[in-house]
Amino acid sequence: MRILVTGGAGFMGSNFIRYILEKYEDYEVVNLDKLTYAGNPENLRDVEQNPRYGFMRGDIADAKCVGDVARGVDAIINYAAETHVDRSIMEARDFAVTDVIGTLTLLEAVEKYKIPRMVQISTDEVFGSIEKGEFTEESPFLPNSPYSASKAGGDMLCRAFIRTYGTPVIVTHSVNFYGPNQYPEKVIPLFVTNLLEGKKVPLYGKGLNQREWIYTEDHCRAVDLILHKGALGEVYNIGTGEGITNIELTRLILHELGKDERSIEYVKDRPGHDLRYSINSDRLRHLGWKPKTTFERGITKTIQWYKDNPAWWKRLKSKKFQEYYTRQYIER
Ligand code: NAD
Ligand code: TYD
Repeated sequence: MRILVTGGAGFMGSNFIRYILEKYEDYEVVNLDKLTYAGNPENLRDVEQNPRYGFMRGDIADAKCVGDVARGVDAIINYAAETHVDRSIMEARDFAVTDVIGTLTLLEAVEKYKIPRMVQISTDEVFGSIEKGEFTEESPFLPNSPYSASKAGGDMLCRAFIRTYGTPVIVTHSVNFYGPNQYPEKVIPLFVTNLLEGKKVPLYGKGLNQREWIYTEDHCRAVDLILHKGALGEVYNIGTGEGITNIELTRLILHELGKDERSIEYVKDRPGHDLRYSINSDRLRHLGWKPKTTFERGITKTIQWYKDNPAWWKRLKSKKFQEYYTRQYIER
């Protein structure tokens, strides 16, 4: 099988490429990535020399570039996106272009080059916030941030292509990812690396917002199963049921790193901050998947990875990174 992975130099895309090359000895992977600030070739140094791996720098919104790499592949898995909610609040345009037009360009390529299947990696954030209970795959989209609205736009196009042309696409909605190689702007790597640097952690509002978390390997196994056994035209939620408030999460990280609550800095809340995400993933469980890594185990492994790889994250937390955060707080 020859797979085109888009956004494979990012956090989850790079974990997925490594997972596939290790698991299937005869599979080939092509990685199409624009290498934005979030794309990092270092994430895949260990597979660069693998003859079954190829890389092309390019934009999923560029039809010619997509055509060059998509022709002849057996599947496309779209991880490419602008992904950080706070950045989308500051500047939404790149989100609309990549997450909507980029997805459209891939769908057009699936049709044009008769690619047998595409998996669209999306988020539970498209459903918006839910106070109690869980969203199902049939729940309406009620996105609240420019990020989730852009992802919802891409997912809507997938739905429309399925209904209109019978395009062989499967859409996934996943809970929050965590694990090795996550860019240190997202809450877990930001908090862990801040504490390793002896800094405080900026907790938004009162820390009562709740997220559900999935470890990298469990997400890779879910996408692997969906790629091979998922029904074309179907939608699958990928969730663990491990919901936790941000303050509980922060306390867990503080405890693991031998720190106390004096390291918390309560800062102004994120505008439009969704209170709680929660999804039902029975459909995927019936297909034969369940998570293997508990949050407690996964967070310990994740913290250990950041302890063991300071060079990886220190470079990313450079002056440019600091400028971005300063700007964010000044503008709020
Ligand atoms: P990431 O931000 O770490 O990486 C995104 C990658 O996409 C980067 O390598 C970047 O260079 C690339 N990219 C961006 N724009 C591109 C373009 N126009 N053309 C080609 N490449 C481009 O992302 P992530 O956190 O690994 O998320 C991957 C996917 O999973 C995204 O679609 C995201 O919406 C979805 N998702 C993420 C989470 C999460 O918690 N991070 C949860 C659910 C779903
Ligand atoms: P984040 O990692 O940005 O993921 P998402 O917004 O896509 O869920 O944030 C996770 C939660 O952590 C979210 O409720 C916002 C909160 N948060 C903070 O409290 N402080 C921070 O510095 C960041 C980045 C996030």
